[in-house]
Amino acid sequence: MPIVERPSSTGGGYDEEEFLNAEVFPTLALEALGWGDGGAVEAVRITIDEPGRHKVGDVLVDGLGPARRPIRSVEYRAVPSMGSMPDQQLLVMQFDEGAAGAWEIILNPELLTVELLRDGHREMSFNGRSQFHIERLVSKAALEQKKTSTCTNMCFAEQFRGHKDSKPNGPTAVMFDLGFEGYSHVYGIPEHATPLSLEDTHGKEPYRMYNLDVFKYLDDSPAALYGSIPFMWSHKPGSSVGAFFLNSAEMWVDVLKGKGNPQLGTRDRVGTQWIAESGQLDLFLLMGPGPADVSRQYARLTGGTPLPQLFSLGYHQCRWNYKNEADVSAVDGGFDEHGVPYDVLWLDIEHTDGKRYQTWDSALFPTPQRMQRELAAKGRKMVTIIDPHVKIDEDYVTHKLATEQKYYVLNSDGETDFEGWCWPGAASYLDVMHADIREWWAQQFSLANYSGSTETLYTWNDMNEPSVFNGPEITMQKDLVHRLDSDRRVEHRDVHNAFGMHYHQATADGHVLRGRQVYGEDADRPFVLSRAFFSGTQRHGPIWTGDNAANWDHLRVSLPMVLSINLAGLPFSGADVGGFFGDPSPELLTRWYQVGIFYPFFRGHAHLDTRRREPWLFGEEVLGRIRAAIRMRYTLLPYLYTLFYETSQNGAPVMRPMWYEFPSSKALAEVQDQFMFGPALLIAPVLKKGPNPEFSTASGWRQVLLPTEARWYDFRTGQTFNSKFPSMKYDADLDTIPIFFRGGHILPRRETARRSSQAMQQDPYTLVVGPDADGKAVGRLYLDDGRSYAYENRAEFLLTEFSFENNLLKATPTAGGELRTDVLVDRIVVLGVKSPKKWSAKTHAGQSLECQAGPISLQGSWDDGQALVVRRTGLRVAEPWSVQFTEVWW
Ligand code: NOJ
Repeated sequence: MPIVERPSSTGGGYDEEEFLNAEVFPTLALEALGWGDGGAVEAVRITIDEPGRHKVGDVLVDGLGPARRPIRSVEYRAVPSMGSMPDQQLLVMQFDEGAAGAWEIILNPELLTVELLRDGHREMSFNGRSQFHIERLVSKAALEQKKTSTCTNMCFAEQFRGHKDSKPNGPTAVMFDLGFEGYSHVYGIPEHATPLSLEDTHGKEPYRMYNLDVFKYLDDSPAALYGSIPFMWSHKPGSSVGAFFLNSAEMWVDVLKGKGNPQLGTRDRVGTQWIAESGQLDLFLLMGPGPADVSRQYARLTGGTPLPQLFSLGYHQCRWNYKNEADVSAVDGGFDEHGVPYDVLWLDIEHTDGKRYQTWDSALFPTPQRMQRELAAKGRKMVTIIDPHVKIDEDYVTHKLATEQKYYVLNSDGETDFEGWCWPGAASYLDVMHADIREWWAQQFSLANYSGSTETLYTWNDMNEPSVFNGPEITMQKDLVHRLDSDRRVEHRDVHNAFGMHYHQATADGHVLRGRQVYGEDADRPFVLSRAFFSGTQRHGPIWTGDNAANWDHLRVSLPMVLSINLAGLPFSGADVGGFFGDPSPELLTRWYQVGIFYPFFRGHAHLDTRRREPWLFGEEVLGRIRAAIRMRYTLLPYLYTLFYETSQNGAPVMRPMWYEFPSSKALAEVQDQFMFGPALLIAPVLKKGPNPEFSTASGWRQVLLPTEARWYDFRTGQTFNSKFPSMKYDADLDTIPIFFRGGHILPRRETARRSSQAMQQDPYTLVVGPDADGKAVGRLYLDDGRSYAYENRAEFLLTEFSFENNLLKATPTAGGELRTDVLVDRIVVLGVKSPKKWSAKTHAGQSLECQAGPISLQGSWDDGQALVVRRTGLRVAEPWSVQFTEVWW
């Protein structure tokens, strides 16, 4: 439907000659999308397009072709006039009822409002507050005169701290309001160091999304950080919905909350207002109704997280910088000597020859391949850093080729290569917005091109916001020029937030290409960490939250940050453990490891100027605690890998806000100091300094909220909580991480943490069974080679469902099946059993198993609980089996 420009507050009359598209009005299109069987609608797309605006590419998957949904009925409904207003015609579209409820879309063509109703209740409204506005593209004549009837000066050129933005297209912003009706909380739109439930911005700064390299970010601020995902959630007991604004320009979002707010009226609602500096208005409203539905709907639009290699879920040891090969070898040896597992050793920028990426400082790293092979012999990998700026140096082959082929981002003249300033000094930037340039960059990762690399070397993409030390706000000028695939050109302004994602994408493609060259079709899966991110980044690899600081505030804020990034469809994420800037106290470092083992991406990292902090440098006690935490991570890898399998299928977060798992609870909406790690584990870490100034005896405690809907087990002692009183005080000395196992779940685990994840691949599993109040539990295990695409190519994987009911534990392989493995489920632990010895157990084959009272875990300090334990079962993970437990009366 064509729409017309609405007069702005400053505006008088328009002269159509001012506009580029004087003849063609912007058009509003509504699409109803759904992915399940039947006609049910799950998302509505509102597009307001104007020829000439940038449309974001490479984010939506599958072209949405099969997703469009038929409308069950359309009718015009007349709304009687108010005062002198004429009658209004509403267009009402109804859809077949589905899991997401019976939806209706009501369009008011006059006021240009779109309302979404579920089962007769209004849930979301577009333009309900008449804030929709689009600065129509201006004509060539107006551009030349730098003037329209509503705009002069700033609309046509801006100055910022000595930087000039020539604004060659004049004003191009697009803005709209979106109301969440009956809701009190909104979440998401990372990346911000703010509370999980977004705060009212009335009278304050709005949330800003503009990928920036921020030096020492604050721990409570809506200011922009390294990544942007314009995807917002709203949740109330019993209902979740989402809104995704597909636009990669700088964006601002205001949040106005509910009742009594003079701008919103008396209803419970959250009003949000979005402004993007340029680009198309392309908005997806996701209709839930549950949290898992919203995650799935977003993953259907933008893709899920492909299964990562198992090693990448282990512990990563990083520092700016490990100095030379001897240092690498000593650190690696230190982990073995002190019995601390780890999988990956990282090299920061100093390993290169003068910050020329994909080169080595030959004095410090004379034999890089030997170094990598030594790590690989222990099942470990190495990561090197590769940033998007390329040193301007005629003798540097990357620069030489990129210059010859005109592969750099261009100045605003559209001709000359842009030069900025970064680690190497003067540098140019690969224009990864173009597919051919990405393809070329991917080829640079072949073993032949990247000299000194081996097939166990992976990549870290840093500074890809992109960071330009001498640019405005330490990034690129907005009027720089990129070339797109169709030979179209766009300003940096239009694509800024997506740039880093494309660099990440090109690098990940490079890994896949290298993998194919080395292994054929069963290539290893890519591993590339990125600092900048955007919607779609989840398809290319993990991200981390950048340069945090070694203080308690940054430890605390890491939880809402990683939780909201998880909600935004990017589960593979984490914060630098220990804090990047500054030196953590031993207590802070210990507590940070106890949190970090639950970040989906788990890496310790530190700034060049900090003291060394490998875990064994703080004495036996601290080492013991950090070792216990890291070992706990390794024992949980089977559960974590299964969570990653699930997110690859349905987009669910790995680290989840409490309300995500308990959506009907009111009390959990703002909880952010405890969280769910998948569906089965509740983690309530200690985030405050202990009361005792004497670190060695410092203890701590915290208040824990156990949702009353579930039965809970203390994951260490097995103590059962049937919580009528959900909030309790829990003692947590420095050896203790408060972890609670949710009744109704079965968790696969490996008991013995070895030196790397690879060294544990053939170890037997333990199943921990936590019956709910009805004595039932379910769980699953996903298993493959942990490395290659054989799971996709030849179904070489195993998916086994476990169930426990009437004291019968059953394993049923349900998918895959081509994986050959003799691995056993050797140990079964059933929680919540009063007298474990008064039980007997028998397998489906009639074999009797001894029931004992035993420790819940064989791991270090986690062995003081007692549960019903069956050992040496001889049951194979790849086969169906069952074990009947029977209470013996004597
Ligand atoms: C900035 C990154 O955020 C940090 O992690 C890294 O150590 C430095 N760049 C140096 O490469």
